[in-house]
Amino acid sequence: MNPIKHVAIIMDGNGRWGIKYKKSRNLGHKAGLNTVEKIIKSTLENKIKYLTLFAFSTENWKRPKKEIRFLFNLLDNFIDKKIKEFNQNNIKLKIIGNINVFEKKLKNKIKKSEQLTKNNTKLQVNLALNYGSKSELIDTFQKLNKENKNINIKNIEKNLYTSNIPDPDILIRTGNTNRLSNFLLWQLAYSEIFFEKKLWPDFNENDYNKILKKFKKIKRNYGNI
Ligand code: IPE
Ligand code: IPE
Ligand code: MG
Repeated sequence: MNPIKHVAIIMDGNGRWGIKYKKSRNLGHKAGLNTVEKIIKSTLENKIKYLTLFAFSTENWKRPKKEIRFLFNLLDNFIDKKIKEFNQNNIKLKIIGNINVFEKKLKNKIKKSEQLTKNNTKLQVNLALNYGSKSELIDTFQKLNKENKNINIKNIEKNLYTSNIPDPDILIRTGNTNRLSNFLLWQLAYSEIFFEKKLWPDFNENDYNKILKKFKKIKRNYGNI
């Protein structure tokens, strides 16, 4: 049975769900937050140490301003509502991605939340915000170059946004789309990938547990036989 240390999720399909059931993409994003809560709870119950959630990509800035504003408001409210609970449940929040471009108030709130939960040990939730794998790799190589360090696997991994975090064992993408969309390209090199037809707001604990169960039986070779 494979142990599971890290699950990464591309939470896709909110917009389509919103249009289908509420005639509004934004209401789909709101509904998606309920799934986030369910999956965090389930990850705790499964004693998995790391959960990485793709919430906003470096390419998502191409979307209409109204949708972007709605997403950032949701994030702001989510932090207000949930950070205490995170702390009570011994959950650490870490952001991966470039939040320096966010407005000051939100940026400070995020930083404060990371600070508040930094010593928590039961589960680490990595929230990928303004995250793009290509930017992450460029940042990493530039840093190594500036510090005159060798480009090798060890140095690269030490300087990625995910330094000190084991690579994902499992990647789940909901929303019936089979692509990576610039997510963790380096870190997913040997992850088991599960593409799920359901839209993110319809995804539930049961679907999640089924994937975890399937994963445990997979023979992982890493190039060996
Ligand atoms: C994923 O859902 C959430 C974000 C990218 C913020 P989408 O908004 O991409 O939903 P679809 O793919 O358009 O249905
Ligand atoms: C990936 O979904 C990003 C997030 C889930 C945050 P997208 O909906 O942005 O991906 P594409 O554009 O369909 O590839
Ligand atoms: Mg999408």
